[in-house]
Amino acid sequence: MAFPTQVRLVEVSPRDGLQNEPSPIDTATKLALIDRLGAAGITYIEAASFVSPKWVPQMADHRDVMAGLSRRPGVTYAALTPNLKGLEAALECGVEEVAVFGAASEAFSKKNINCSVAESLARFAPVLERAKAANIRVRGYVSCVLGCPYEGEIAPGKVADVAKALYDMGCYEVSLGDTIGVGTPLAAKRMIDAVRRDIPMEKLAAHFHDTYGQALANLYAVLEEGISVVDSSVAGLGGCPYAKGASGNVASEDVVYLLNGLDIETDIDLDKLADTGTWITQTIGRPNRSKVGVALAAK
Ligand code: HMG
Ligand code: MG
Repeated sequence: MAFPTQVRLVEVSPRDGLQNEPSPIDTATKLALIDRLGAAGITYIEAASFVSPKWVPQMADHRDVMAGLSRRPGVTYAALTPNLKGLEAALECGVEEVAVFGAASEAFSKKNINCSVAESLARFAPVLERAKAANIRVRGYVSCVLGCPYEGEIAPGKVADVAKALYDMGCYEVSLGDTIGVGTPLAAKRMIDAVRRDIPMEKLAAHFHDTYGQALANLYAVLEEGISVVDSSVAGLGGCPYAKGASGNVASEDVVYLLNGLDIETDIDLDKLADTGTWITQTIGRPNRSKVGVALAAK
């Protein structure tokens, strides 16, 4: 398989990037971040998460975020919706796309969304139906595809089963999440090989966290297999409250720099993206985890 000629970035910093931040981040900062990402040429932004505020307090202002967006033409503003309650609220706010999130690990499913994998799939079915009726596309996530904080190793076959269930249910794209960033390139390839037996490659996305510093190497490995949608987060922000120790997503700046070097098109302005990474980390008092962002800022 050859590298894709074009890659679409799914920018998850306003959601995955901020959901685990310990101190409150005001809505205006989130909106400014989303606006800057759009100005840098990002065309898909996960802007909010319609989950329980008791479970994830940082995402409690989901309605205000969706209502406050200055929508740019050509940009999709999406949100996570774990159940019908979340979807109905998101629809009221004019969401354009939503995502359901399941896991390849029973223990993680229980900790993250308080139900088994089978129960989660049963819960997603009406979300898919309702979204279809409202003409809203649904993305599906599978977490723990390269390891679980509670169960350890996860069999590629289990990832493939959950991914197939989401795809068969109507998810137009399935994003494969290395939630705790433990994967290595060979494991990532093997996992993709298992999933692609049931789902066309162009319907799959890679969502890699960088806890062990392997995310970019893992991405290179799966790009070589033909993956053409990559989830990333500016400045490498991110983490999941129910995956202790998990660090941020792969940094968007680093992904764009890698793709530029591979002559793969993204239509993203790297300097503007790097400025956004510098700005948001300074604003929320976090280290910038993008090596490219730090290098460009030092120039
Ligand atoms: P539950 O307690 O089982 O749900 O939580 P419930 O239906 O029994 O409801 C309990 C309470 O939550 C009720 O309120 C509901 O109204 C409320 P109360 O009567 O106690 O006041 N509730 C809601 N409130 C707002 N929005 C909703 C909603 N649903 C119920 N949609 C639930 C189940 C799924 C709600 C909960 O477990 C939850 O919110 N979990 C979210 C966890 C989360 O957001 N994790 C991070 C995102 S996943 C991730 O980061 C991984 C990813 O990046 C990929 C990767 O890296 O692998 C996607
Ligand atoms: Mg994630």
